Amino acid sequence: MAGDLRHPIFARLYPRMDAATARIGGAAHRDELLDGASGRVLEIGAGYGANFAHYPKTVGEVVALEPEPTLRRRAEEAAAVAPVPVTVRAGVAEDLDLDDASFDVAVASLVLCSVRNPVRALAEIRRVLRPGGELRYYEHVRHRDPGGVRFQRYADLVWPYLAAGCRSSRPTDEWIARSGFTVLRERRFSFPPSRLPNPAAPHVIGVAVRD
Ligand SMILES: C[S@@+](CC[C@H](N)C(=O)[O-])C[C@H]1O[C@@H](n2cnc3c(N)ncnc32)[C@H](O)[C@@H]1O
Repeated sequence: MAGDLRHPIFARLYPRMDAATARIGGAAHRDELLDGASGRVLEIGAGYGANFAHYPKTVGEVVALEPEPTLRRRAEEAAAVAPVPVTVRAGVAEDLDLDDASFDVAVASLVLCSVRNPVRALAEIRRVLRPGGELRYYEHVRHRDPGGVRFQRYADLVWPYLAAGCRSSRPTDEWIARSGFTVLRERRFSFPPSRLPNPAAPHVIGVAVRD
């Protein structure tokens, strides 16, 4: 399909890796991300649909975009057993074929690290959210200390090749705050717990409202 982004090895490995992190806290993070969401929801880069089981019943409909065809097929399977209606479509976050102000909530989880142009993706998300609509995000972000940022910049020389374009050093939380959103709440934490240094350890879960 035009616009597909193919990462066949990542697409096979990611569901297994994510299932392992789900058991040590990732599933609880997804509950926290989606707690209280309601109305019509857009999820960008839905992967294999790991969030779908976590949507509360207050959500009326989810439109889930996923550009990677293998992951998209897995997402369609997850949509079939989700607790709320989920439609899975191809599509990239930087170019949303969706009407202005047509969603109450947008969800970005572990995805703004990977999209080619995250600032453009945030502008597109803002466009399709109604005024006052929520961007709910769960992302790994740039370290706050200079040594940590240096480590992430070195890691990013190879990280994108191992993880389908993911960059560990993106200040996604700062970009959200500067993209026409007001951050209502945000929790910062390190995940997963590990003794080994992990460039993608600093995480945020937050809710920002479209100005
Ligand atoms: C680490 S996975 C996360 C998947 C899912 N959001 C989750 O929470 O498990 C990153 C996802 O971003 C998707 N992606 C990459 N570039 C994208 C883009 N430009 N627009 C939308 N999704 C993209 C990938 O195909 C992949 O599914």
